[in-house]
Amino acid sequence: MIIDILTLFPESFGYLNSSILKRAQESGKITINLIDIRDFSLDKHKKCDDYPFGGGAGMLMTVQPIYDATKSVLKENSHIVFPSPSGEVLSAEKAKELSKYEHLIFICGHYEGVDQRVLDLLKPEEISIGDYVLTGGELPTMVIIDSLSRFIDGVITGESLTEESFSCGGLEYPQYTRPQVFEGLEVPSVLVSGNHQEVKKWREAESLKKTMSKRPDLIK
Ligand code: ADE
Repeated sequence: MIIDILTLFPESFGYLNSSILKRAQESGKITINLIDIRDFSLDKHKKCDDYPFGGGAGMLMTVQPIYDATKSVLKENSHIVFPSPSGEVLSAEKAKELSKYEHLIFICGHYEGVDQRVLDLLKPEEISIGDYVLTGGELPTMVIIDSLSRFIDGVITGESLTEESFSCGGLEYPQYTRPQVFEGLEVPSVLVSGNHQEVKKWREAESLKKTMSKRPDLIK
């Protein structure tokens, strides 16, 4: 998958170059390009924001630099995403759906938002990461990329994917690693019993218990 990120703040994407996403890029499963919207501004001072017509607080990102930056990477198979509180709220299902595209373009809004004509002309899919307002689309873009990348073949092991929270509609069971005892708290004995069938049964029961207590809304 190729991901082009259009932003005024390319320096804020360091997270994508660490851990699992770094490996996914090094192995060629994902290619992530950062495109500085400012490079496309036709303004002599490279300005990319302006006051809203009709008045109001703050600045808006202007349409021209975003439009031209998008056109510079747009292909037949591109899908454009605009992170925004107005969009559908991100879910595991949506992340999986996004992971199927060959080319994603993320447009990161900032300040008070973007000129409406960005949306009217480019018709991006708007996606929210929750009912709160952030200062820009940079963090939501990283959240969306992180969640969708887990569904790309080979980025994480198949087992992690099927066993993790939400994959079966509920939360993942509690997990433990060494040491076996810490501050008097012991790892449940079934997990060190070597009885795989019992381990599976325990995990299913714990998963259900945890979901019922923490997120009963997930149980249909
Ligand atoms: N931009 C600002 N707030 C946002 C949110 N909650 N989700 C996605 N994009 C946003």
